[in-house]
Amino acid sequence: MASNTLRFLQAIAPIVLLARLAQASAQPQRQPSQLLPPGVARPGCRDRCGNITIPYPFGIGAGCYREEYGFELLCDDARSPPRLTISGGYQLASLSLSAGEARIYLNATRKCYNVTTGAFVDRNDDASLALGSASPYRVSPTKTRLVATGCPTIGYFVDGAGYFVSGCTSVCRPAQYAVEGQGPCTGVGCCQSAIPSDIYYYEPNTLSLQLQAGKLDPILGANVTTCQYVFLADADWFSYTDSVFFNRTDDFAAPVVFDWAVRNVGNCSAAKLNMTDYACRSRDSECVPSSNGAGYRCNCSQGYEGNPYLDGGCRGR
Ligand SMILES: *[C@@H]1O[C@H](CO)[C@@H](O)[C@H](O)[C@H]1NC(C)=O
Ligand SMILES: *[C@@H]1O[C@H](CO)[C@@H](O)[C@H](O)[C@H]1NC(C)=O
Ligand SMILES: *[C@@H]1O[C@H](CO)[C@@H](O)[C@H](O)[C@H]1NC(C)=O
Ligand SMILES: *[C@@H]1O[C@H](CO)[C@@H](O)[C@H](O)[C@H]1NC(C)=O
Ligand SMILES: *[C@@H]1O[C@H](CO)[C@@H](O)[C@H](O)[C@H]1NC(C)=O
Ligand SMILES: *[C@@H]1O[C@H](CO)[C@@H](O)[C@H](O)[C@H]1NC(C)=O
Ligand SMILES: *[C@@H]1O[C@H](CO)[C@@H](O)[C@H](O)[C@H]1NC(C)=O
Ligand SMILES: *[C@@H]1O[C@H](CO)[C@@H](O)[C@H](O)[C@H]1NC(C)=O
Repeated sequence: MASNTLRFLQAIAPIVLLARLAQASAQPQRQPSQLLPPGVARPGCRDRCGNITIPYPFGIGAGCYREEYGFELLCDDARSPPRLTISGGYQLASLSLSAGEARIYLNATRKCYNVTTGAFVDRNDDASLALGSASPYRVSPTKTRLVATGCPTIGYFVDGAGYFVSGCTSVCRPAQYAVEGQGPCTGVGCCQSAIPSDIYYYEPNTLSLQLQAGKLDPILGANVTTCQYVFLADADWFSYTDSVFFNRTDDFAAPVVFDWAVRNVGNCSAAKLNMTDYACRSRDSECVPSSNGAGYRCNCSQGYEGNPYLDGGCRGR
């Protein structure tokens, strides 16, 4: 049922797009921005890529974004649907001003083995994240988790200095007692671990336990899957009961929730020392300390709504 709906949507997507294009050429004066709340992007700047709204301080093109690494975005209209990326390569799934969140697609890391011999067969390309501490983005510790699937494996990631940050162990049960791929992700065929705050670098890895299992404990080698994965995922998006994650051998990307902030200064009091650079442009706005890493965000004052990062961006309700 769900996949039928998806197929239907995929089938009609080009038709809807063509209908929109036809409408656009028939009424050239009707800009998409007029359908949005006022003051989302800077005047004269593009405020959409596909169905994703692009609020300032994010922007596409010179003069349209805050002049700091990570706020400049690119939109590839040649793709269907158009693809929005951070200049430098990561694909965005959504952006939110009020929540201070961005969802970015990251590839899952895959390693595959010969189930009989345990010999390494192949892996996909490096799926690391290297946005850097100067970027606005930090992995959300409340909405994102590290997930490892397949077995027997340890999935983990290291920081920029190469040291362990977070990880978990996934082991399968013998065939006649198998529950993997059915229940929640609690360590049988799938495990998950929490992410600390202030993470802007992520280098994932898996360690297959198949060959070690005999030496360590036979329980660890009760059953094996061909491929083992480790990835970061939006906790709402990831649902292991989908069982689609168990036994898979293909490559996929998962949306990851990030908290973004203005980070060229460490806090609100430092930001207010330079009003030229201060990001909270609207008179009816206030500075909000970042809850994940150094820096700050802006909020419209109570009773106002809109874009606090633009002059006159916050308007009375
Ligand atoms: C944008 O469209 C995609 C499908 O093309 C959909 O999955 C996604 O939820 C949409 N996002 C928003 C913000 O509407
Ligand atoms: C993610 O994987 C796809 C192939 O599955 C590849 O084309 C793409 O370059 C990868 N993205 C990154 C950021 O490595
Ligand atoms: C696994 O290894 C065995 C023994 O070397 C070999 O016969 C078999 O073809 C391999 N299986 C795969 C899927 O590569
Ligand atoms: C693993 O379980 C599957 C069924 O879930 C079974 O076909 C297979 O033989 C088992 N492999 C091992 C090594 O026990
Ligand atoms: C996983 O793959 C094995 C071997 O192909 C199969 O016997 C088993 O039923 C599969 N398990 C699930 C949950 O799909
Ligand atoms: C804000 O940052 C400045 C400069 O880094 C620092 O001296 C000051 O102690 C910080 N203030 C607070 C309240 O953290
Ligand atoms: C204030 O910010 C502006 C714009 O980023 C910069 O050019 C200027 O040097 C800063 N002034 C001080 C005193 O730091
Ligand atoms: C920012 O504004 C939103 C919406 O008005 C509100 O829910 C949130 O609590 C505010 N955040 C802070 C830190 O004041």
